[in-house]
Amino acid sequence: MTEISLFASQIQRSTLSDAALLDDLHDAVWMIEDGDTAGHEWCDREGYPGYTSYASLDDLPQRAPAFSQLVSALNIEAAKYAAARHWELGAAKLHCDSLWINILGEGGHHSGHIHPNSVISGTCYLAVPESAGRIKFEDPRLPMMMAAPAIKADAPESARRFHYISPQAGDVLMWESWLRHEVITSQSEAPRISISFNYALTEG
Ligand code: NI
Repeated sequence: MTEISLFASQIQRSTLSDAALLDDLHDAVWMIEDGDTAGHEWCDREGYPGYTSYASLDDLPQRAPAFSQLVSALNIEAAKYAAARHWELGAAKLHCDSLWINILGEGGHHSGHIHPNSVISGTCYLAVPESAGRIKFEDPRLPMMMAAPAIKADAPESARRFHYISPQAGDVLMWESWLRHEVITSQSEAPRISISFNYALTEG
């Protein structure tokens, strides 16, 4: 007997090894947080426990060199991701079209979601205190499973319906934007700091 395993979902995990860039990103994040009144108003209104630039700023790479350096580093990782998927992009190019800061406080979480209109999504982690929230990925076939049996508790990771990652500072995770994910509630008083991003395809 042989078994054919098909249609897997891949999450790419890499590490930003440039310590100076990570320091600069920390400084840049707090500089933006300090000056973004509209962002804080949005967070207050929406009950976001912490700060995000998601709704208020769409030009971080123009606001601090550290963010544009991060995009350059992410471009390399996105190209690796695309190559590993054997994507035929033709004349199209992967383009980082959104980048935003998340400073998540105690009790903060981000419920399950996908990133519509994007190709690759991901996050670069700057600070992940102990118990500050793992990221949970969900089997994209779940909505079609109907009567599928539960999975045994001791099943290998590859057979499970959910996968949890505890990122470390400096980690960059990338996945296809249709892969549903959520951030588990932070139980840490120290902030969980990350920069999330989307890649889309642009012509030429
Ligand atoms: Ni997300």
